[in-house]
Amino acid sequence: MPSTQRLKMKVGGGEEDGFLTKGRPHQGDKLKMDERSATVSLLLLFCLGSVTPAPANILDVCASCHVNATCVDKYDHSGKVCNCKYGFVGNGRTFCQDKDECQIGATKICGQHTTCHNTYGSYYCTCLTGYIASNYLPVFIPNDGTHCQDIDECRVAGLCGEGGQCRNLDGTFDCRCQLGYRVHNGTEPFRPQKNQASCQVVDCGQPTFRENIVLLSATGTTFGSVATFECDEGFLWKSGNKASACGADGLWRGLTIICEVIDCGSPPTFAHSHVEWNGSSRVGTEVLYQCNFGYRNIGKSNVFTCTAAGQWEGVTVLCQEITCGPPKTLPHSTLLWDRSTGPGSVVQYECVDGYYQEGGDNISTCLTSGEWANISLNCKAKCGPVPFLAHSEVVWHNTSVVLHHCVKGYRSWSGSNVSTCSSSGVWHAATLSCIEVKQPINQLLVLNEKCLQWRAEKDEGAIEMYKVIYIGSREYERGFLDKRKQFVNSMEDWVQICLSLLPATNYSVSITALLAGFTATVAINTTLTVPAVPELHYREFETPVPTLRLHRSPSTLDTISLYQVFVLPIEGVLAFNCSCPVNGKPPSKSDSSQGHIVAQMRISRLGAEMNFTVGDGLSYGGFYNAPLRKGKNYYVILRAVSQWKNDLKSSCVLWAKVRGTSYVIMISSLCAAALIGLIVLAVLLGWTYTWFLKRR
Ligand SMILES: *[C@@H]1O[C@H](CO)[C@@H](O)[C@H](O)[C@H]1NC(C)=O
Ligand SMILES: *[C@@H]1O[C@H](CO)[C@@H](O)[C@H](O)[C@H]1NC(C)=O
Ligand SMILES: *[C@@H]1O[C@H](CO)[C@@H](O)[C@H](O)[C@H]1NC(C)=O
Ligand SMILES: *[C@@H]1O[C@H](CO)[C@@H](O)[C@H](O)[C@H]1NC(C)=O
Ligand SMILES: *[C@@H]1O[C@H](CO)[C@@H](O)[C@H](O)[C@H]1NC(C)=O
Repeated sequence: MPSTQRLKMKVGGGEEDGFLTKGRPHQGDKLKMDERSATVSLLLLFCLGSVTPAPANILDVCASCHVNATCVDKYDHSGKVCNCKYGFVGNGRTFCQDKDECQIGATKICGQHTTCHNTYGSYYCTCLTGYIASNYLPVFIPNDGTHCQDIDECRVAGLCGEGGQCRNLDGTFDCRCQLGYRVHNGTEPFRPQKNQASCQVVDCGQPTFRENIVLLSATGTTFGSVATFECDEGFLWKSGNKASACGADGLWRGLTIICEVIDCGSPPTFAHSHVEWNGSSRVGTEVLYQCNFGYRNIGKSNVFTCTAAGQWEGVTVLCQEITCGPPKTLPHSTLLWDRSTGPGSVVQYECVDGYYQEGGDNISTCLTSGEWANISLNCKAKCGPVPFLAHSEVVWHNTSVVLHHCVKGYRSWSGSNVSTCSSSGVWHAATLSCIEVKQPINQLLVLNEKCLQWRAEKDEGAIEMYKVIYIGSREYERGFLDKRKQFVNSMEDWVQICLSLLPATNYSVSITALLAGFTATVAINTTLTVPAVPELHYREFETPVPTLRLHRSPSTLDTISLYQVFVLPIEGVLAFNCSCPVNGKPPSKSDSSQGHIVAQMRISRLGAEMNFTVGDGLSYGGFYNAPLRKGKNYYVILRAVSQWKNDLKSSCVLWAKVRGTSYVIMISSLCAAALIGLIVLAVLLGWTYTWFLKRR
């Protein structure tokens, strides 16, 4: 039948037919599409078949095409037909409706792992998460062969973190831990984004080891770290592995080392020696070898040490017998020796005749060093008696040296003062020459209590300068000091100087010869001298109470102690003794010819001037100044007294004459008598002075 043939034809050219044309299905889906289109076409053809054959009613088909249809030529060019546009389904004239391709199923339309998105008149596809379009665009239409394929997430490095191992799955991935790592905060497999799980490296902690083993080095404590060990000191590796590694199970593994203690055994022995050993034969033990007595080690060392190699190591000990050989000889000495040469042997040295041993030791002993002990013996020749030098004496001496010294009164002039005994037994005598010591001031003499005389010992014609210092003091006068100085130049052999010394004073005089630098001292104790006669004007008075004046120059060096005033009546034979006792009582009337004291005045109470009124009836120094009797003539005498201890010197002067009545003859005779008295007085004083000088 032709209808059946047409149908078949329609089925074969489905595309032209327009009912089922919607894009070009890709190769894989073509068969299914054809089957589907065929089924729909069949149903529609049955409905349309009865209507189509009526050529008479042909109308303008193109004009009746639906908005969403196109007008095309028929296959056989027998006319035109309206075909719905791509994406629309219908009869092309009255009905062209949008077709929801996605309703057919995303898998069918877009392929596996896709999502279908419908649009008006069309659609597009996207891939599910974990997949990507084969054209790498976010949307696609599969009719060009584009499809969704799995993404390999593991291509991103470090996705699973350190120690993690990535595994790609269809549309996803998961993580597990590598060897040596353990999952932390979760379980395997895990996905780092989903939970906090991560991989952490296994840590074995500090390497563990046993006795006799020491850790040499370790690369770390984590998985794969290696610790290296060795045997402790004194131990030796015997077998086994020296390294240990940190395993994935967190344990150090692989150490199998076995160490054995090192033992050197007994130390070696050497001839003529003994060993000092504490019995230990461990590494580091030292033994000391000592040669027996009489032997000494000529080897380089005497120590052996137990080494790590398990052997005693050291230099061979060589003990050789010690001998000192024959002893040395010393000049001028003989030997006492028993010919033994071993250590402890003794040699005695003795100086030969004519020599003596000067210090040192005379015995030498053979030492363990093989040498005779050093000997300091020195045999010196004897020099005999000590040499004699004029005016000298020996201060000190020993057998070889004499020290000389000038005797007293002599001094060293030149030469050496040492005599030495030479090795040939002869004294090298000292050349000392002693000369007599001469003092620059000799035979010092005191003359007349005030002059000094001495013999000057000096070079002929030379001038010597002398400094004379004299210091006077008085025992009876505290605070008195007479200190004076005087220089004398003289080239005389005999020098004489006189000093103005004060009386009744003890002087210490020192004379220094300035050039010679020599000082001599002498004491001069001056005696009391007759005081100087007071200087006054002799006057004669008519008045019964005359006032007399005395001028004096007071001085601390004054030797006058007191003044006395005598009143001497001019009658009978006049006799006045100036040297009669000072403190005597007023003479009795019968003895009035001697006159009497009317006043006594201590010098200490007097000034430079003194007024004295004779007969004023007052008492002066315990003496009564009795009024003068009228009609009588008197002499007034002033006596100056120097007194010290029991010594007393005085001088008198006629001060005044008081005329009461006029006995001219008497007066003249009295004048003669007074004159005689004064002469007598002067003679007396002169005699006393001469006598005193003689006594000195
Ligand atoms: C024809 O198709 C267009 C979209 O291409 C649509 O907007 C319109 O409504 C359709 N016309 C009819 C009569 O269905
Ligand atoms: C004597 O004395 C001198 C000087 O002190 C000294 O050098 C010398 O050794 C002494 N001689 C003796 C035998 O003591
Ligand atoms: C002088 O010295 C002697 C003896 O020490 C003594 O007795 C005498 O009183 C002294 N003379 C003087 C004036 O001090
Ligand atoms: C002189 O006086 C001194 C004291 O100043 C005394 O030592 C000495 O003995 C006195 N000499 C005479 C001779 O009195
Ligand atoms: C002593 O007398 C004279 C004259 O009469 C008088 O000038 C003088 O001051 C008197 N001197 C004393 C120490 O009294």
